[in-house]
Amino acid sequence: MVTLKDHVSFTDLKLASPEDIRLLARNEAEIQRTEMADHVLSSLRLMGGATAGFQVDRLQHSLQTATLAYQDNPGDEDMIICSLLHDIGELMAPVDHPSFAASIVRPYVSEENTWMVLMHGVFQGYYYWQHLGRDHTQRETYRGHPAFERTVLFCERYDAPAFDPTAHTMPLEAFEPMVRRIFARPATFRAPAG
Ligand SMILES: [Fe+2]
Ligand SMILES: [Fe+2]
Repeated sequence: MVTLKDHVSFTDLKLASPEDIRLLARNEAEIQRTEMADHVLSSLRLMGGATAGFQVDRLQHSLQTATLAYQDNPGDEDMIICSLLHDIGELMAPVDHPSFAASIVRPYVSEENTWMVLMHGVFQGYYYWQHLGRDHTQRETYRGHPAFERTVLFCERYDAPAFDPTAHTMPLEAFEPMVRRIFARPATFRAPAG
């Protein structure tokens, strides 16, 4: 936990001075740089034991998705970490968990990878929405998007097959250095897609 030695002068944000705002920006950047990875890792651990009827729990699914991405291309750390985190919102934002995950990775990875995380729910729907009376081909409306093929690949090769209790699955500790490298990057603000 970062010890913050200073604080702002205002009690109403409308009265903030430029110095106040610079102080807060500095503190926020330091907190993100030093604590973000720990929060993410803790949130992943919380998904252990939550199966919701699958044969693996949500942490195992996340680890297995990342393991498949790693086996495919161990040099693509952004894909691996997006794979690890793509379902991190399942517990707190189950109705729209892709948006939750996308908001976490958006400042640190490319727009294509953010879009892949954001849209993975629609793209995974290709495999089962027909059983719910929904249009499982909805992802076709996005064909031509720069990240379309990457998102198809993510679902086909990493996300969809990662529900196998017998599959080789790397432990969370194996991914921890990558998580720390990604969140040690300077955060870039990108507005969410409208
Ligand atoms: Fe998902
Ligand atoms: Fe998933």
